[in-house]
Amino acid sequence: MNSADYSTHGAVAVVTLNNPPVNGLSHELRGAIVAGLDQALADPAVKAIVLIGAGKAFSGGADIREFNTPKATAEPNLGSVIRAVERSPKPVIAAIHDVAMGGGLELALGCHYRVAAKGAQIGFPEVKLGILPGAGGTQRFPRAVGPETAVSLIVSGNPVPSEALESTGLFDRLIEGDLLQGAIAFADQVVDRRPLKLVRDIKIDYPHAEAFFAWARTSVGASSKGFPAPVKCVEAVAASVSKPFEEGLKLERDLFTQLVQSTESKALRHLFFAERAAAKIPDLPEGTPTRPIKSAAVIGAGTMGGGIAMNFANAGIPITVLEVKQEALDKGLAAVRKNYEGQVRKGKLKPAALEERMGLIKPSLDYADLGQADLVIEAVFEDMAVKEAVFKKLDEVMKPGAILATNTSTLDVNRIAGFTRRPQDVIGLHFFSPANVMRLLEVVRGKATGKDVLATAMGLAKKLKKTAVVSGVCDGFIGNRMLGPYGRQAGFLLEAGALPWQVDAALERFGMAMGPFRMADMAGGDIGWAVRKRLYVEKPQVKFSKIADRLCELGRFGQKTGAGYYRYEPGKRDAIPDSEVEALVVGSSKELGVTRRKITDDEIVERCIFALVNEGAKIVDEGIAARASDCDLVYITGYGFPQVRGGPMFYASTVGLYDVVRSMKRFHADPLGDPGFWRPAELIERLAAEGKSFSNT
Ligand code: 3HC
Ligand code: NAI
Repeated sequence: MNSADYSTHGAVAVVTLNNPPVNGLSHELRGAIVAGLDQALADPAVKAIVLIGAGKAFSGGADIREFNTPKATAEPNLGSVIRAVERSPKPVIAAIHDVAMGGGLELALGCHYRVAAKGAQIGFPEVKLGILPGAGGTQRFPRAVGPETAVSLIVSGNPVPSEALESTGLFDRLIEGDLLQGAIAFADQVVDRRPLKLVRDIKIDYPHAEAFFAWARTSVGASSKGFPAPVKCVEAVAASVSKPFEEGLKLERDLFTQLVQSTESKALRHLFFAERAAAKIPDLPEGTPTRPIKSAAVIGAGTMGGGIAMNFANAGIPITVLEVKQEALDKGLAAVRKNYEGQVRKGKLKPAALEERMGLIKPSLDYADLGQADLVIEAVFEDMAVKEAVFKKLDEVMKPGAILATNTSTLDVNRIAGFTRRPQDVIGLHFFSPANVMRLLEVVRGKATGKDVLATAMGLAKKLKKTAVVSGVCDGFIGNRMLGPYGRQAGFLLEAGALPWQVDAALERFGMAMGPFRMADMAGGDIGWAVRKRLYVEKPQVKFSKIADRLCELGRFGQKTGAGYYRYEPGKRDAIPDSEVEALVVGSSKELGVTRRKITDDEIVERCIFALVNEGAKIVDEGIAARASDCDLVYITGYGFPQVRGGPMFYASTVGLYDVVRSMKRFHADPLGDPGFWRPAELIERLAAEGKSFSNT
C-alpha cells in the first residue's frame, strides 16, 4: 500500500504524506516520499514539488513503533530521504499544518523552503522519549533559528506555535487560509529561483558560543538527573557551531544510537504507548456515544473538593461547589483563591484569568442549585453513611442523565451506586491530592456503570488534562491497593533491622520521589490508621507491623502534628530523624523477639518494589486493570515512581521475571512479619516460566 499520494497542479507536483493518524515516518512512508520525489523529478512538466501532510499533521516524526527494529534503519532511512530532498534539482517546499515534530520537522528542514499555517505546532519531542533528534535536527535547526532557540526547543521537547518562530529564518512564509493553495502559489513564485539554498549551508555566526554552551551544559545537567538525553542534546547542538556540518551529523548519529538503546529511552517509549493504551478500553468500541459535560458540581469543599473545582474552572467548565455550612464553603473557596493567587505570584497565571476562573466556581448550600448540572462529583468525608445520604439526595435532585461520581479512595463504588435508582449513571472519579496538580485520575468502573458514562469520563479526563486509567472495583483500586503491600513490607523491614530514614533513602536513591515513611508523614498517619483499623476487622489475615499504630497512639500523625516517623520543626517540612522513633522501632523488634540485623539498600528496594509488582500482577490477572502498563502509568503519574524505570511492571520486566520470582521465593524463606506475603502471583509465575515479560499481557 502506498502511503503518499501524488498529484500535479500545473507546474507543481504535490506529494501528500498519508499515513494516519499522524504521518509517522514509517519505512513504507519514507519509501513513498522518495518515490513521489522521483516521479516529480522524472516529469519535465514539473518545476517544483510541495510536500504536505494529509489528516491531522504534517508529520509527528519517526514512527516510534519501528524503534529497535530493522525497519527503523532500513533504506531509505530518514537521513537518506532528507538527502534525496536536498539533492533535488527542483525546489522542494514543505507545507506544514497542525504538527511538524521530530523527524517531521527534520524532513522540512531538508527542504529548500518551508511554509506553515499559523498555529502549527513545531517542536522536537525526542528528548521526552529519551533520545535526541537523529536525522540532522540538531545540526540544521540551530542553523535555521539560532543556537539558543534550538537548545531551548530541543532540550525541553515542548512545541511552539509557528508564529513564535516567525522572526527566525525557519519559515519563508506563514500562510492564512488554504495551506495547499498557498503553498502552490508560493511554489509558482520560486520555480526559477536559483541557486537553491539549503539550511545545511548556513554559517552560524555566534560569538557567545563558548559561554552559552558552558552554561547550558551545567544547567541542563543539574536539572535532568537520571536522564542522559538532555545533556546529549546540548552536546549535539554545540557541535553545530563548533564542527563542520557532516562531522556534527556524525556526532548526532552516534549519540542517537547510544540513547535509543538505553533502558531510560525504552522506559519513556513504553510510557508513551502506555498512556495511549490506557485510553483504550477493551469492550468500549470507538465511537461509543458520550454525554455532554457543559456544567458540573462538586459536593464538599475540603482538600479534594477545592482542587477538583479548580480542574473544571481551568478547563472553562462552570462548577457549583456545595457544602453543608457557610463557614466550610468560605474556607474552601478561600483556599482555592489562595492557590490561584500563588500561581499569579509565580507568573503562571494572569490576574485577569484568576477572576475568570473564580467566576466559574459558584458556591452553594442548596442542592436545588445543582440539579441541572451534567456531572456531580461527591468529595465528602470518607464514611459510607455520609456517602449514602449524599447519593440518596443526588438521586432525588439531579436531572435524568446526569453522571453521579464519587471521589472515594477506599469505599465500594458498587455499594455507593446501589444507594441510587440509577446505578448505570454512577462512576468513581478518583483524583489524587493535590487534585489541581496531580495528573492521575483513576476512573473506577462499577459493575453497572454505563458504557456511555465511562466513555464520557475518559473524554472529560482529556479535557481536564488528566491521565485517566480505568480500574475495576476493589479495595484501594489500582494505586492504593498496590501501595498496601509496599507499605507493609517497609514496616516489616523496620522490625527486622532498618530505620525509617534508611528505608526512605534507599527507595529515594532508586528514584522514588519520596520514601514510604516520608510519604506517610505527608499524607497523615491517621488516614492509614483508619484503613488498618477497618482491615483488622474485615481481613484479619492481612498482617501489619505494629510500629505505625504505636506512633498514631502517641498522636504522631506526621507533618500536621509536627511528628510522625520523623520530627518536624514548626512551620517546616524537612523530615528530621528522631531518636524517639529509633527507640520505638528497636523496642518493637525486641518485643517480637527479633534480633535486629543489617539490611542492605538492595534488599529494601527489592522487597518494597517487588511487593508493588506482585500486587500489580494480581490486579491484572483479576481484570481490575486491563493491562500491566496501566499499573505503570498509575505509579508514574500518581505515586512518584521514577520515569526512567518505566513503572514497576516495566522495571520488573527489565530485571527479568525469572529473577523476580527467584527473589520472591528467597524472601518467602525469610518472610519477616507475614509468612503468607511472598507467594508469587500466578501471572508472574506463568510469564516467568514461559520466559515472557509483562509486555505480553
Ligand atoms: N510514531 C508512531 N505512532 C505515533 C507517533 C509516532 N511518532 N505519534 C503519534 N503516534 C500514534 C499514537 O501512538 C496514537 O496511536 P493510537 O491511536 O494507535 O493509540 C496516535 O498516533 C494518536 O496519537 P495521540 O493520541 O497522541 O494524538 P494527538 O492528536 O493527541 O497528538 C501528536 C498528536 C502531537 C503528534 C502526538 O501524538 C505526539 O506528540 N506524538 C509523538 C511525537 C514524537 O515524539 N515524535 C518524535 C518521534 S522520534 C523522531 O522523530 C526521531 C527522529 O529524530 C529520527
Ligand atoms: P476533607 O475532610 O478535606 O473534606 C471533606 C469536605 O466535605 C469537608 O469540607 C466537609 O465539610 C464536607 N462535607 C462533609 N459532609 C458533607 C455533606 N453531607 N454535604 C456536603 N459537604 C459535606 O476530605 P478530603 O480529603 O477532601 O476527602 C474527600 C474525599 O476524597 C474522601 O472520600 C477521600 O477518601 C477522597 N480522597 C482524598 C484524598 C486526599 O488525599 N485527601 C485523595 C483522593 C481521594
